[in-house]
Amino acid sequence: MKLKNERTLAIEAAKKVGLIVTLKGWVHVRRDMGKIIFIHLRDRSGQMQVVFLPATPELYQTAKTLRNEFVISVTGEIVKRGAKNINPNMSTGEIELKATRLEILNAAMTPPFDLDETIQVNEETRLTYRYLDLRSERMQKNIRHRSQVAAFIRNFLTAEGFIEVETPYITKGTPEGAREFIIPARLHPGQFYVLPQSPQQFKQLLMVAGVERYFQIARCFRDEDQRGDRQAEFTQLDLELSFTNETEVMDLIEQCYTGVVKELYPQKKLTRPIPRIPYQEAMAKWGTDKPDLRKNKHDPDELAFAFITDFPLFEYSATEKKYVPVHHLFTAPQDGDEALLDTTPAKAKAKQYDFVLNGVEVAGGSIRIHDADLQRKIFKILKLTDEEIASRFGHLLRAFSYGVPPHGGIASGFDRLVMILQNEPNIREVIAFPKTGDARDLMMGAPSVLPKHILREAHISISKQE
Ligand code: AMO
Repeated sequence: MKLKNERTLAIEAAKKVGLIVTLKGWVHVRRDMGKIIFIHLRDRSGQMQVVFLPATPELYQTAKTLRNEFVISVTGEIVKRGAKNINPNMSTGEIELKATRLEILNAAMTPPFDLDETIQVNEETRLTYRYLDLRSERMQKNIRHRSQVAAFIRNFLTAEGFIEVETPYITKGTPEGAREFIIPARLHPGQFYVLPQSPQQFKQLLMVAGVERYFQIARCFRDEDQRGDRQAEFTQLDLELSFTNETEVMDLIEQCYTGVVKELYPQKKLTRPIPRIPYQEAMAKWGTDKPDLRKNKHDPDELAFAFITDFPLFEYSATEKKYVPVHHLFTAPQDGDEALLDTTPAKAKAKQYDFVLNGVEVAGGSIRIHDADLQRKIFKILKLTDEEIASRFGHLLRAFSYGVPPHGGIASGFDRLVMILQNEPNIREVIAFPKTGDARDLMMGAPSVLPKHILREAHISISKQE
C-alpha cells in the first residue's frame, strides 16, 4: 500500500540491526570529529545516533552544514556500534544509523536556549518560545503522559456506561463564585455571553434530558488570579450521574484514578485504603480540609489520596455580609438537615465531597438539589432576589418542573492531577500553552489591543486606557 510505505518510521521502531530505514526528525546535537560527523537525530519517540563518513564526499559535505534543530530526512543502515561507543543511557545506545542519503527539509536558527537545559531557563523565555520548550524531553513526556491519562479516563468511563457530551463555551455562565470572562454579543448590542466556569448547569440539564451518565474533559474559564495550581483557563474531568449517591460517586472516581496509577504509573506508591474523612475531623486533626497524608513528604513517588466529606452547606462571608455556599448553590443538604435551613442554616451539612491528593484539592463534587422548591429556598438563604432568581436560574427551575431525576457528580482538576503524577511543581508544566502568573500568553502576545473598527462592531467603547 502506497500510504504505508511513505509513512516515516519512528526511531523506536527502527532498532533492528541490518534494517535500511529513512528517519525524519530534528538534529538534536552534532559532533564534527574531523574525519567523521555524528549527530543525534530526535523524533517523537527518542533519539538515534547517525554517522556520516567522508567516503561519500557529497553526503559528508551536506552533513557538515547541519546545525542543531535542522529538520532532516536521513536514510541508511542500522548497524551495531563499536564496543567503545556504546551509550547505556540511550535506548538506542547500542546501535547507530550509517547514513547513505541526507536531505535537509528545513534549516533552523540557533535556539535561544539549550533544549537539554531548560530547567535553567527563566520561565518568560520558555513561554515566549513555547514551541521550542515543548521539544524538550521533559515537556514531551508531560504532554504525552497527559494524553495517555485522558485516554485511560475516556476508556474507563465509557466502559462504565458514560457518554461524552460537549457543552457550550459561549453561554450564560454558571455562577459558582469565581469572576467570569465576558464576551460582547455583536448581534445583540449591550448584551453579553460569558465563558463557563464549569459545565455545572449544563450537566444537570443533561440529567433532566435523560443522559443518566455524562462526562466531559472540558475547558473551564475563571477570571481570577493565577497561582501554581490555578490557571484562568484550565481543564476539568467533569462527570454527572442520575439515581446516585455520595458513595457511588466517590467509588467511581477512586476506581478511575487508582486505575490510572496502576496502569500508567506502576512505579508510584499508592497509599491504601483511601480514607473518607469528615470535614470537622480534618480541621481538628490537621487544621485544613486538604491534608497531605503522605508518610514521607520528600516527594516524589508517594500518592496519598483522601476524600473529605460532610462539609457545612454554607459559610458566612464577612466581606459580602451574607451566607455563601461552601461548594456551590446547587448542592443538596444532608438528609435530616433540611429543617435547619429554616432555623440555623449555618449548621446544615452538605452532600459534598472533595478529593485531595498529596495536599492538593484534585476534585470536588456533590449530590444536587433536584427539587425546585428546595432550590428556591437555598437561593433565598443566599439573598438572591426574585428577579435575580428568575433571570439567572429561571431555565433551571423550569427544567426541574419536567421530571428531574435525583443526581450528583464531581469535577476534577485534570491539570492538577497530571501535575502531581508527573512530579511537576506547577500546572503550567503540564499545559501545552499556559498563561503567565499575570494571565498573559507571551508567545501569542495576548491580551492585545484591538483595532477601533472591531471594537465598534462589538459595541465596545473604551472609557479609559491605562
Ligand atoms: P470546583 O470549583 O471545586 O467545582 O472545581 C473542581 C476542581 O477543578 C479544579 N480547579 C482548578 N484547576 C486549575 N485552575 C483553576 N483555576 C481551578 N479551579 C478549580 C480543582 C477543583 O477541585 N462544578 C463543580 C464540580 C461539581 O460540583 O461537580 C466545580 O467546578 O481541582
